[in-house]
Amino acid sequence: MAETLTITDNRTGKQYEVPVTDGTIRAMDLRQIKVNPDDFGMMTYDPAFTNTAACRSKITFIDGDQGILWYRGYPIEQLAEHSDYLETAYLILYGELPTARQGDEWAREITLHTMLHENLKTLLEGFRYDAHPMGMFISTVGALSTFYPDAKDIFNAESRRLQTIRLIAKVPSIAAYAYRHSIGRPYVLPDNELSFAGNFLNMLFKMTEPRYKPHPVLERALDVLFILHADHEQNCSTHAMRGIGSSHPDPYSALAGAAAALYGPLHGGANEAVLRMLTEIGSRDNVPAFVKRVKGGEGRLMGFGHRVYKSYDPRAKIIKRIADLVFEVTGKNPLLDIALELERIALEDDYFVSRKLYPNVDFYSGLIYQAIGFPVDMFPVLFAIPRTAGWIAQWEEMLTDPDQKIARPRQIYIGPGKRDYIGREKRK
Ligand code: CMC
Repeated sequence: MAETLTITDNRTGKQYEVPVTDGTIRAMDLRQIKVNPDDFGMMTYDPAFTNTAACRSKITFIDGDQGILWYRGYPIEQLAEHSDYLETAYLILYGELPTARQGDEWAREITLHTMLHENLKTLLEGFRYDAHPMGMFISTVGALSTFYPDAKDIFNAESRRLQTIRLIAKVPSIAAYAYRHSIGRPYVLPDNELSFAGNFLNMLFKMTEPRYKPHPVLERALDVLFILHADHEQNCSTHAMRGIGSSHPDPYSALAGAAAALYGPLHGGANEAVLRMLTEIGSRDNVPAFVKRVKGGEGRLMGFGHRVYKSYDPRAKIIKRIADLVFEVTGKNPLLDIALELERIALEDDYFVSRKLYPNVDFYSGLIYQAIGFPVDMFPVLFAIPRTAGWIAQWEEMLTDPDQKIARPRQIYIGPGKRDYIGREKRK
């Protein structure tokens, strides 16, 4: 028997049977609930979408209570152990792990598209020396739209595939150029012999040596961080990607918007905010006083809490393990002790325990990035590079979903009623 929900409207005494599918009701089914025939009908009020599914998706599954994260059914722990970022990106985009032949071809195609048009250098020259790399990243990704007008052909699967390859291949180059611009060093061309992460390190850190050799531990650590950040279902930036994409612009324009959504300190900017917070705390001894201030409502413990995870973020667990491997190579980040003490105190404190606030992906990632040599303001960019795969997969799923239309929420109007215009001279 089909599941239904019976709703009794106390205002009219009428009863309604609303179908239940996948544990949800369709918001549009509520519109039949009216006090009189001229009524608009019942809507739901859900600021920040805390209880509204806006799509059906096959990409990423999260169980926030149990701390579970799967991409296309594969547990994040297994991917972090055995896969690499490019293969994971393929999985997220196309639904299956690539065969050996598909994987090689995919890596080859990405490698062939890593170079940037020379004019993008001129664009970057326009930024001040102290421009935030994320601002440069957002603008440059948006500018790519003007370089590839063919990207407007969004209902052509071949064109979508080409833009996908271009985007995944070029975001590390853009990020590296933004970094090199900010420190006044010449741009480094991609090295096709290196892995995705290894080439990124090359474009960032190569100096005068004829060939840059990434440290294998740091290269693998960065690649695993990329795997962990590749998708996270319907978060703020993915919602922006789908929302902007729903009016059918090219994917570069939509992705620039998604990256802008990621930039904020409550989302992908949190890793940067964590590092600034740990630096401000300064020493383990200052941790209790800092926690007290947070509990008193003075700011947040950055890198803690999550809309969906109400237990330890599975990504944070993996990152903590990678941190140990990285610190063996680079030496321990002195801020680690402050972070560990913060975590210890917070996990025992009723304020955090009762609100189910645990470390999230951003709590330890910044310590690794800093140890590898990235400046703090590069951190959100390091989140945007791998999330590009997730954004494109979600955009593609939205475009090919017959249920989707242009995104257009409703509102409850609470402004003034109709009133007549008053000339300026008569206004009080
Ligand atoms: N520090 C102190 N209190 C917090 C924190 C925190 N980090 N996070 C939530 N709370 C409190 C909040 O004040 C509220 O308390 P009360 O019920 O007394 O008003 C309660 O916990 C519930 O918080 P909320 O703001 O309703 O939760 P939310 O789901 O809207 O926010 C969040 C989720 C991630 C924005 C929030 O936890 C936060 O601001 N965390 C710090 C920023 C951060 O680390 N962001 C990265 C998120 S993970 C990576 C990503 O996806 O981008």
